[in-house]
Amino acid sequence: MALISQAHRMENAPLSRIREIIAYAGRLEQSGKRIIHLEIGEPDADTPAHIVESCKKALDEGKVHYGPVTGIPELRAAVADRYNRLYGAGYDADEVMITAGVEQGVFLAMNAYLNPGDEILVPDPGYLCYFTLPNITGATPVSYALEERRDFQIDAENLEKLVTPKTRAILLNSPSNPCGSVLDGQSLRIVAEMARRHNLLVISDEVYADMVYGGKQYCSAASLPELKERLIVLHGFSKYFAMTGWRIGYMLCERSLLDPMMRLNFYNLSCPCTFIQYAALTALAEDDAPSRAMVKEYERRRDYMTQAINSLPGCSCLRPDGAFYIFVNISETGMSGDEFCKIMIDEAGVSMTPGHVFGSMGNDFVRVSYANSMDNLKLAVELMRGVLSARVSA
Ligand SMILES: Cc1ncc(COP(=O)(O)O)c(C=O)c1O
Repeated sequence: MALISQAHRMENAPLSRIREIIAYAGRLEQSGKRIIHLEIGEPDADTPAHIVESCKKALDEGKVHYGPVTGIPELRAAVADRYNRLYGAGYDADEVMITAGVEQGVFLAMNAYLNPGDEILVPDPGYLCYFTLPNITGATPVSYALEERRDFQIDAENLEKLVTPKTRAILLNSPSNPCGSVLDGQSLRIVAEMARRHNLLVISDEVYADMVYGGKQYCSAASLPELKERLIVLHGFSKYFAMTGWRIGYMLCERSLLDPMMRLNFYNLSCPCTFIQYAALTALAEDDAPSRAMVKEYERRRDYMTQAINSLPGCSCLRPDGAFYIFVNISETGMSGDEFCKIMIDEAGVSMTPGHVFGSMGNDFVRVSYANSMDNLKLAVELMRGVLSARVSA
């Protein structure tokens, strides 16, 4: 027993299982084993050179002091402009706050708006912090199911059944981690109508919004004017601009909604990192050709992986429309997600994430990230085929 015990609010906030998997893979690599990493949640590309250069320039120019808690005005204006241009949203620059990544945006939104005993509807399967951060505030995450047989779209009847007098908010994530699915207009309208009827806050995590394939138009929650008074949009630079390690993102919402999160951010971060904001401004202001090329390459990998996975014994998947994940149904293999992943990393040297990490709807699934080279993906598929052919009857 530790002499000093942690606060009760930390008891339901375990470290991400994905970090454990990465650590296990690291130990195997240290012992000389080759591992192909399909568990990762970040682009395999480095940040485009012109963004890196702009950061160096900002440092040389002495952009190293505290800045405004909400971020530098030029970047706030560029973010509002981007959302207005792409999605017909109507945000002013002072309805934008720069954050230390989307994850911090989720933290601020939940801590500024959830009371102990409140309930928040979160997608299952969904990104881990949607389950843990409400717990830290004393609120309860209530899972709404995204089912494969419904293309991982939102079902109005199921959602309605989960609403209680304690329900205070609903969280959306599109494109989805871990499903790669993109919510259609119908799913968003269901949420907008329900949120209005029950007076709910809507938090929309759109961190993969720029990674949508097949020429499809992305449907942002910001494109629904009826949502605006109750909507917090979260987005950032980590994925599309391959800037995961820079820790920068943003939120858009009406001024009155922003105010408590701004105050919380003042006590949490003081202000976002100043010189990184100038690099982020360059990312938005200059030609995004490297990011567009990256997305095109991911589409090619998605096409290959979807077809390859569906040819593996016992495995099947939908063709996802966005992000860089495939949620693979492994129920026909007779293995649990943990067993499947353990066998794959030990016998095939392929590291993946068991689906239950993303909620109980993921029990029969594993998440594959195709943010890896085409050569590695092809090799991974053949190594997996070797293991599965010996264990699973076709
Ligand atoms: C759905 C989702 N939201 C948020 C994040 C975190 O984004 P950021 O790096 O901007 O904090 C991730 C990272 O994997 C994610 O998958």
